[in-house]
Amino acid sequence: MVNALDMTSATTRPIKVLQVFGTRPEAIKLFPLVHALDGDSRFEGRVCVSGQHRGMLDQVLDIAGVVPHHDLDLMQPDQTLDGLTANLLTGIGKVLDAERPDWVVVQGDTATAMAGALAAYYRKIPVAHVEAGLRSGDIHHPWPEEVNRKIVGSFAALHLAPTETAAAALRRENVDPTTIHVTGNTVIDALHWVIARIEREPTLASGLAGLEARFAGKRIIGMTTHRRENFGEGMEAIASAVRRLAARDDVAVIFPVHLNPNVRAVMNDRLAGLDNVALIDPLDYPHFARLLDICTLMLSDSGGVQEEAPALGKPVLVMRETTERPEGVEAGTAQLVGTDPDRIVAEATRLLDDPAAYEAMARAHNPFGDGRATGRIVELLAAR
Ligand code: UD1
Ligand code: UDP
Repeated sequence: MVNALDMTSATTRPIKVLQVFGTRPEAIKLFPLVHALDGDSRFEGRVCVSGQHRGMLDQVLDIAGVVPHHDLDLMQPDQTLDGLTANLLTGIGKVLDAERPDWVVVQGDTATAMAGALAAYYRKIPVAHVEAGLRSGDIHHPWPEEVNRKIVGSFAALHLAPTETAAAALRRENVDPTTIHVTGNTVIDALHWVIARIEREPTLASGLAGLEARFAGKRIIGMTTHRRENFGEGMEAIASAVRRLAARDDVAVIFPVHLNPNVRAVMNDRLAGLDNVALIDPLDYPHFARLLDICTLMLSDSGGVQEEAPALGKPVLVMRETTERPEGVEAGTAQLVGTDPDRIVAEATRLLDDPAAYEAMARAHNPFGDGRATGRIVELLAAR
């Protein structure tokens, strides 16, 4: 029998939400939710980082001021998908047993998101999936992310879709429509936050001044690349396209190289020492926002960059065969170019040499959200 006192405590106990993440992009897209839950007395916000990434994760935790309650510190050099996944499942499982949250929140499609959600499902803890419903329709592009997010989508209790396109993809998979909500993508919330921080404290993003001076008068191409399906041949092809573009004397490439050894080995081997190419370590988020600001265009296979570049009106040539983010392409700010070096060079050259082609792409669009996704997610977590 429940007495009156028990009922009071049951209704006033804050909702315990455990966010589980482990890589740079997850941290960028979830820190606004960490901040929001910390400032809301309806919730007890908890954070478990897997440490799937180390340095690149810590860069985000530092700037966002997030101090995790649990850090599994799992990263191994050149880790394998199966070894990583096994460690994630057992590590996160122990944290869930200790914390017993009301909700587990995961973001996107990484191994941490998939294993975190699965460990919660094994304990019948409801999962809220941020950035739900992205689909390329090809299980090998991006690999293994397409399957990771489908796994989470098959049992999440709350599907937080960034766009109507993503929500429609979930409905096509017969997900209960009452559990699908279009919130916008929290990446835009994060971008607004970091831009406001830089406005208040410009030195947070002033570390590129030396490169900006070295490349004064040249047009900057910003680069990122890291997709597993591009390892080997794809990375070689991308490097050869960059070599050809950097042979122009009116262009410079600023390339913060992902810490994955499969990326670094190729890029160091093929691009180090070129006059017009700066191979640098991963930038923290304020400096990456600065790179987005000063560049003429981006060359990238990253998911997050496909969302940020349109928001800032920067054309992005997406070095992938397919995208689960068609909204940027439909808005005209992103273009799929694959990894064929001839195609990459031709499309970049067109943007550099044809002002009309450039102007047609370089318009700010926000198909991924209005910067208020986090608030919507908070209310959905509170309501259930
Ligand atoms: C992971 C995600 C991918 C996401 C990407 C974002 C999976 C399977 N992959 O890919 O979905 O788009 O992160 O960047 O979840 N490393 C470091 N320091 C770091 C980070 C990585 O040294 O801070 C090196 C390590 O050798 C590590 C390797 O990179 O083993 C690969 O990291 P991993 O997280 O497995 O793969 P990513 O390619 O980063
Ligand atoms: N990013 C960053 N520093 C860098 C490169 C990227 O802070 O040197 C940010 C970028 O702004 C975006 C995110 O990292 O928000 C993208 O991460 P990544 O490309 O590693 O992963 P993906 O988005 O492809 O999963």
